[in-house]
Amino acid sequence: MTTTFSPDEVTQFEHAVWSRCAKRYMDTFGVLTSEAIPALLDAANISEGSRVLDVGTGPGNAAGAVQERGSVVIGIDFSTAMLAEARQHYPDIEFKEANAADLPFKDGEFDAVISNLAVHHLGRPQQFLTEARRVLHDGGKVAFTVWADPTKLAAFGLFFAAMENHADTAELPHGPLFGVSDFNAFHKLLQEAGFRDSSVRELDIAWRLSSMESYLNGFEDWANMDALPNTLRKAIEADVRKAADTFKHNGEYVIPNPVILVSATR
Ligand SMILES: C[S@@+](CC[C@H](N)C(=O)[O-])C[C@H]1O[C@@H](n2cnc3c(N)ncnc32)[C@H](O)[C@@H]1O
Repeated sequence: MTTTFSPDEVTQFEHAVWSRCAKRYMDTFGVLTSEAIPALLDAANISEGSRVLDVGTGPGNAAGAVQERGSVVIGIDFSTAMLAEARQHYPDIEFKEANAADLPFKDGEFDAVISNLAVHHLGRPQQFLTEARRVLHDGGKVAFTVWADPTKLAAFGLFFAAMENHADTAELPHGPLFGVSDFNAFHKLLQEAGFRDSSVRELDIAWRLSSMESYLNGFEDWANMDALPNTLRKAIEADVRKAADTFKHNGEYVIPNPVILVSATR
């Protein structure tokens, strides 16, 4: 991953992708991303009575988990389609349409700002951290997860290897925090945004599936596979299914896809 994409190029690409994935996200990627939520909430010190902002909330699973801990939460996302899912799944939670780089909240409103697997999709992650600091009160916590080094992402790797085998693949736009494996880069970013006591660690999570259908549905939306010729699509799916067999034990697929968990104090 060497190309640098402009922030606007990233924003435009990510908006199209997640809006396309929204309908089936909860049953596809959401199954995997939810695995990181308990550790994320612990890193942000979320307990009863906290006031929390969930950025890039998607269908709202992290916000839902915050509410279960007895806290008040607001979720924001820039995709109308994702917010429709969030409101349907969590009707008691407030969700707002907004960009992570421009948070529509007053200074010092929150005890914690969290973001689960969204910050590497941002064209301007520094701007998000500056905004997160602004809306936190002194002593408040920021915590976010991003995907770990791509070579460790066995679950995503199944799809990308199959795509490379069968189709011409170009590097797609991605934010500057996708594929960063140097933990110092995160410490530096947080320090530059005015945070202290930063912590960065890898967290082992896995995509747990009873069949590969939901995995393939997720990537079908993500990669807009409907646009590919049917034979090509079938060949990619067959490759994925074959490679996934290595991860099947006692009728369940457990495919590792670790994250980096980052947190700091304002
Ligand atoms: C991979 S999904 C993660 C969703 C959810 N947090 C989860 O745990 O599954 C990334 C989400 O970030 C949102 N997103 C990406 N860029 C954004 C931006 N600049 N501002 C607000 N939301 C953004 C997308 O619309 C999408 O819902």
